[in-house]
Amino acid sequence: MSRIAYVNGRYLPHAQAAVSIEDRGYQFADGVYEVCEVRGGRLVDEPRHMARLDRSLRELRMARPMSAKALSHVLRETVRRNRVHDGIVYVQVTRGVAPRDFPFPAAGTPSSLVVTSRSFDRARLEKQAEQGIDVVTVPDIRWQRVDIKSVALLPNVLAKQAARDKGAREAWMVDAQGRITEGASSNAWIVTRDGVLVTRALDTGILPGITRSVVMDELKAQGLKVEERAFTVEEAYAAREAFVTSASQIVMPVVSIDGRPVGNGAPGLITSGLRRDYHEHAEIA
Ligand code: PDD
Repeated sequence: MSRIAYVNGRYLPHAQAAVSIEDRGYQFADGVYEVCEVRGGRLVDEPRHMARLDRSLRELRMARPMSAKALSHVLRETVRRNRVHDGIVYVQVTRGVAPRDFPFPAAGTPSSLVVTSRSFDRARLEKQAEQGIDVVTVPDIRWQRVDIKSVALLPNVLAKQAARDKGAREAWMVDAQGRITEGASSNAWIVTRDGVLVTRALDTGILPGITRSVVMDELKAQGLKVEERAFTVEEAYAAREAFVTSASQIVMPVVSIDGRPVGNGAPGLITSGLRRDYHEHAEIA
């Protein structure tokens, strides 16, 4: 029997069930999900799972894909069409399809809804339960490896949206010690009152930006002083200049932080020079 998936209003054979490559779940992990047990063809703990789904959606300011009643019907219909007696039903909601950009898409963008269901071999699971399972311990790194350019970008999406909500273009993220790590989608830099360029050292707490590395070459070539170290929010407020680097923004001056003007509130001279000369140092093929 072929498996059936529910995708945005249609029940489709698995092989034809697909979402857009611009779905925000695929691009940013900007989605939520639930898994319910199916036992004897019926749903287990559905109200609690649906309450948690609602909470997850609310916390992420994501639209409900349909009414609770309609969703309950889709879950049951997916279980029924797959003839699942014992197994699970999986429901995933994402912030929908939009051109790739970190902030939330335009209001009214419909969320995406996928529901699948599959059977378990209950006898095999019961046998396993008789024997028990082994576990190993691992460090809980969820998700502290932002040096890996992974698509697990939901925190960056929320940071960028927080910036937009306050009328800013970028958010600078702050660690537990009050030091800036990096932007939601860029590396963060300041120029101190003494003219020293400061950006966080490469560790697992920031993405090793390619633009950052080219700017490093640029600074070396120009004999400018660089310190690769963490800097605090207060240092950033007091900076003479500030800027961000990324492939999409090259070197972008920052003129205010938390509403306080940086320097005289206009793009700085060092920053503007770095932006102007960037492509002399970049590799263009
Ligand atoms: N973002 N830090 C983060 C979290 C980023 O997402 C990016 C780039 C950078 C800068 O890296 P690079 O200089 O290699 O672009 C730093 C890209 C532009 C994006 O996701 O759209």
